[in-house]
Amino acid sequence: MTMLQKHHAGLSRDEVRLYYNHRCQVSWLDDWYSSRAKALALKLFDPRPGQRLLEVGVGTGQCFVEILKRLQGQGELYGVDLSPEMVRLTNQRAAASGYSGYRVIEGAADKLPFVDQSFDGVFCTYVLDLLPQQEIVQALGEFQRILRPGGRVVLAGLTPGQCPFTRLTAWLWTFIYCRVPLAVGGCRPLSLAPYLRRRQFAHLQRHYLVQRGVPSEIMVASRL
Ligand SMILES: C[S@@+](CC[C@H](N)C(=O)[O-])C[C@H]1O[C@@H](n2cnc3c(N)ncnc32)[C@H](O)[C@@H]1O
Repeated sequence: MTMLQKHHAGLSRDEVRLYYNHRCQVSWLDDWYSSRAKALALKLFDPRPGQRLLEVGVGTGQCFVEILKRLQGQGELYGVDLSPEMVRLTNQRAAASGYSGYRVIEGAADKLPFVDQSFDGVFCTYVLDLLPQQEIVQALGEFQRILRPGGRVVLAGLTPGQCPFTRLTAWLWTFIYCRVPLAVGGCRPLSLAPYLRRRQFAHLQRHYLVQRGVPSEIMVASRL
């Protein structure tokens, strides 16, 4: 039994909301290990004018605004985040971009307020690695429900390492997560493929990259 199977050592939903409400002004600091994975995830998401897209867990809205720009004012972009402060910041950043056709709301990944089969794509980075296992399954079920057949999901998050050094950094991260989850933002390394299989997504691509010793994976999957 691994450290993670023994118990969900992470933050409760209220703790996550509180933590990200307070952390929003400095959450760009997380870019030291995640900016390259997010840039690749955006490239793979490949937003096109006319699409109806959703970002779950928008954070400060960096990726949200990039997606909005690529829609070029044609299409619809929705954003959801548990933290009201993150919703406010993303709304502010999106308004400053000058583009219209977006809406950002408070909500949870595992209970999305959208009708079935109404989106072309869902983008979600460094959010599922915060959730308890059961909520990851529920969130992916929600992504599947709201996507049109053939719609794509692009996910990025922390993952276990593939060489002795990155296996050690991921192990250390997990060790800290199990003892002081707040010290690592409540996130831990995960492999998303088994979760995607449970939700009957066709798994199209997995990319693995390491930034400053911290391994991340980017998954692209399509709704069957
Ligand atoms: C580590 S930050 C990542 C933000 C952004 N996606 C990025 O990659 O920069 C996690 C974000 O997910 C939000 N979040 C956490 N749990 C969530 C949930 N169950 N549903 C929706 N958003 C959630 C947090 O409030 C926070 O804004």
